[in-house]
Amino acid sequence: MSAENESHETIREVVDALTRQFEAAGILDAHVDAELLVGHVLELGRGELAAQMALDRSVSPAQQTTIGELGQRRASREPLQHITGHAYFRNLDLAVGPGVFVPRPETELLAQIVIDHVRTLAQPDDDSAPIVVDLGTGSGAIALSVATEVPYARVFAVEKSPDAHAWTARNVQTSGAQNVTLILGDLADALPDYDGQLAVVVSNPPYIPSDAIPRDPEVHLFDPKLALYGGTDGLDIIRILDGVAQRLLRSGGLLAMEHGEHQGADIAALLRASGWRAVATHQDMLGRDRYTTALR
Ligand SMILES: C[S@@+](CC[C@H](N)C(=O)[O-])C[C@H]1O[C@@H](n2cnc3c(N)ncnc32)[C@H](O)[C@@H]1O
Repeated sequence: MSAENESHETIREVVDALTRQFEAAGILDAHVDAELLVGHVLELGRGELAAQMALDRSVSPAQQTTIGELGQRRASREPLQHITGHAYFRNLDLAVGPGVFVPRPETELLAQIVIDHVRTLAQPDDDSAPIVVDLGTGSGAIALSVATEVPYARVFAVEKSPDAHAWTARNVQTSGAQNVTLILGDLADALPDYDGQLAVVVSNPPYIPSDAIPRDPEVHLFDPKLALYGGTDGLDIIRILDGVAQRLLRSGGLLAMEHGEHQGADIAALLRASGWRAVATHQDMLGRDRYTTALR
């Protein structure tokens, strides 16, 4: 195609071509990704993009070149969030890229469980702020959601990977939240001075069994291994969380975690055997067992 023809391509034609390219690459929701990528390059939200398409607007040759380059990266299964540098989670616009786990929509429900619980604990005029820790915070998705949506909570965020921690630090700063303390370290040793003082321990830990390589290239090629794998049965970190949460939580404190859809029964049995009360498995929007809560 000549440069002259390229300059006349409409946004809709570009989105449609990109959609076909992404479908051929095996990307689910190819049309959504095509719209998001074109919107990113044109600096338009999805509503604005739809309006521009309805008006039959064109893209410039320079924009088309950029869309072609970024589209090629997405077609090779690089996550859209790495290409745009943004991951949207609840009310947050998080910076993400190589070295940090891209937060998933289903984790928004785990954050909701924690936010709902913390809101039942204290009113803003209370003296003693409820303390929450997010163990394995990654981009800071859960910790920053709790901190910004329940501003009177005091939130700690612990991350072992220095690469991920650099992204978290950036996200904490951008959020402007003053009630978050970020710690670079192993969750096993978290907050040694806070034994028995916390209201909530929350975690979306690595839980994939070591030999269960995820199907999607975006996951197995781009998410950090430390974020994914949890030993032979996937529960290694969850066993550690059990002990750490028992140490940190005050009586009645909440442990809330995310896990794989087939791990709910094993985790519930593990927690009951450790003496946790009110152990409950919760479902995601698709009805899969994806979260477990328990009280200290
Ligand atoms: C599945 S990711 C979840 C990240 C984030 N909480 C979210 O929900 O998007 C698990 C995170 O735990 C971190 N992690 C793994 N093992 C850890 C450990 N022993 N101590 C602290 N963080 C750990 C990983 O680096 C990764 O950021």
